[in-house]
This record gives sequence, structure tokens and C-alpha cells, in this order.
Amino acid sequence: SQSVPFYATAARQPQGGIRTTPQRHCVFMVFDLTASTATELQVLLARWSAAIAQLQAGRTIGSVEPAHGDGVGADTGEALDLGPASLTVTVGLGPGVFDERFGLAAKRPAHLAAIPALPSDTLDEQLTGGDLSLQACADDPQVAYHAVRDLARMARGTATVRWTVIGFGRASAGPTQSTPRNLMGFKDGTRNITTDDEYDRFVWLDDDAGWMAGGSYQVVRKIRMNLETWDADVVSDQQRVFGRTKVEGAPLSGGSEHTAPDFHARAPHGTEGGTAIDARSHVALAAHENNGGVKILRRGYNYTDGLNQYGQLDAGLLFAAYVNDPEHFTTLQRKLGASDRLNEYVSHIGSGVFAVPPAPRKGSYVGEQLF
Ligand code: HEM
Repeated sequence: SQSVPFYATAARQPQGGIRTTPQRHCVFMVFDLTASTATELQVLLARWSAAIAQLQAGRTIGSVEPAHGDGVGADTGEALDLGPASLTVTVGLGPGVFDERFGLAAKRPAHLAAIPALPSDTLDEQLTGGDLSLQACADDPQVAYHAVRDLARMARGTATVRWTVIGFGRASAGPTQSTPRNLMGFKDGTRNITTDDEYDRFVWLDDDAGWMAGGSYQVVRKIRMNLETWDADVVSDQQRVFGRTKVEGAPLSGGSEHTAPDFHARAPHGTEGGTAIDARSHVALAAHENNGGVKILRRGYNYTDGLNQYGQLDAGLLFAAYVNDPEHFTTLQRKLGASDRLNEYVSHIGSGVFAVPPAPRKGSYVGEQLF
């Protein structure tokens, strides 16, 4: 299986897991720092980085069988023989890293602040916020799980786990992939960021960002889908909600999946008046044409937590966006939260924002410039 390099070979190179062709599985975990000194954080970031470099190369992070048979293994062992499986582990720093505890306020990335309360939020405090994030993506679910599990183990005494989402079936496509589907059955990721120019304009931080140049911001939302209600809805209404057809993913203004939507096209004769793509459809509200040209990189995964307390499917979208200003997400979500037809079927239950520093060079570690 394929291995993705962890260390940068040039300046301002981003971490993996952002532009990396989306792998099939993802384990996302958020931590609260319990440490009281910057040195403890520094040691954790250095140890995590060294371990991630090993894991992405398909190696263990230490012995599985200690020389003394009654010793505790450094690596828990369940990814032995599975290969690297295109693993990437992306490390993010939450706003709390830069509060009074660690004396790092002067290094706070300019746009890093908690996402404000937004319309239609139903956030669960226990699924919101956090000081550090790990996004492990791999083509083998056990490789992704093992990475986060063993990194969480290394954090003991410095950070505690706060919330986690186990994602599957990527809900975004890379340039050479066919578009996957989210749990509502619609293609997701048809119109996403793909070109170098778009990445430079909307995703990567430039030299003005100082030590964060080449990095990005990660905005994560755990969005529950009300699948029982959705599944009872007629397909014509489902298509109106998104503004696209279900099987092909074509805009309702006509054409095929990759035809540009025409938000002014009139609805065909005999249908309800107005435009072919409903003005309150998800794509009409989210499209860059209707948002001053702003685009966000979406790199989400489907998730399920099994059944809820009422015996209903507990599932949805682990939404992850990478942006060079979280305000781009906030502005868009404020608008979606106020008007999106999709709101009837989804609720945002978790939220986090993290600064993702650039990849370290060999011999360095993520966030070294902080200390
Ligand atoms: C487009 C699904 C949440 C931003 C789409 C499309 C689908 C979809 C099916 C059309 C295909 C495509 O171009 O990718 C969903 C679902 C969501 C969700 C099921 C929640 C469960 C969000 C959120 C945001 C967002 C929270 C940002 C705040 C966008 C954008 C587009 C898009 C920017 C592209 C619109 C265009 O340019 O045509 N989404 N989405 N989505 N979505 Fe979402």
C-alpha cells in the first residue's frame, strides 16, 4: 500500500490530509490540554510528529513485543502487516493553545478564534471546541484507528480526549476520483477546490501569516442527518433541497454532473414558478457565484454512531473545511443556517476550529516555531 511522506522537503509545504487525495476512512479526535507549561506541549508535539512520521511510513511507533516479555508495548500492534494504507495524520492547534496558560499569545495565528454561535446551531458542548485535533485518514480503517489510538496514548498526562468522530466513505473527491456520495444518497464534492490557483487563494496561508505560512485553518462540524425523515421525502423534493439530481448529480438547470449551474435559468413550463434551481437550495446558497467569489475546500466523511436512544439511525456528515480564513466558513454557514432547505434534515451538533501549521522539515516537528 502507498505511503505519504510526513516531512516537508521545501519551505511552506502543508501537512498531509488537506490536499492529499481523500482516503476512504477517517478518525478525527480532539483533545484538551491538561498541561500547564509550554514545555509539556512542546514535548507532546515533538513526540507526536516523530510518531506520525513512523506511522505514515507504515512502521510501528516502538516495540510491540518488548524485549522483556512482561513489559508494556510502546505500540499497540493492531496495524502490524497492514502497510501505510496512505495514512496521513494532520495536527491542528485550537484557540486554547494561545490562551494565558502557555504564554504563546503573541504567536496566535491571526484568524484563530472560536467559531461564534450561528443560526440553527444545536451544538453539544461535549462535541465542541478543544485544544488539539488529530485527523487521521487512511484507506484501511484499522490503520487510521491505530494511529489515533496510539497518539492518544502518548498524550496521557499532557492532554485528555474530548470528542471523536469515526468517518467512513469519503464525502469529497480528489481530481482523479469519481465523486462519492454522502448518506443522503447525493454526490458530494462535485464543485470543490482543485487548482493550484484556488488552493493559493482560498486554502493556504501566505507569507503574511509568518510562522503559519503554508498552513491552513481546519473547521470541523459534526452534522447529524435526520435520515428517517429524509428517507420518507419524495425524490423530487430531495432534488429541490440540493438543487441537483440524485443519480447523476446534475444541476437542476440542466446538463450533466460537471455542467456549471445556471442560477437564473427559469423552471420548465408546468412546474412551480421561479428558477429551476430553488433560491433556497443548498447549492444556490453555497455557490461562490452567490457569495462574492469565496470558495472553501471541503474534505468530509460520512459517520455513524449506530442507533440513538430512540432506536433511530444516528449518522451524518463529519464536515471538514480547509480555509485561509475561518470567516469564509462562518459567513457561509450563517447564510445556510438562516435559509437552507437542507436545515429541515440536518443539525450541527459538534464544532471545532484549529490552525494547521505547515509540515515540519526532517529533524523538526509540527509547531516548532512556537517555542
Ligand atoms: C455543495 C451536501 C453541509 C458548503 C454540496 C452538494 C451536496 C452537499 C450534495 C452538491 C455537490 C457538490 O458540489 O459538492 C451537504 C450536506 C451537508 C452539507 C449533506 C450537511 C450534512 C455544508 C456546509 C457547508 C457546505 C456546512 C459550508 C458552510 C457547500 C459548498 C458547496 C456544497 C460551498 C458547493 C456549491 C457550489 O459551488 O455549487 N453540499 N453539504 N455544505 N456545499 Fe454542502
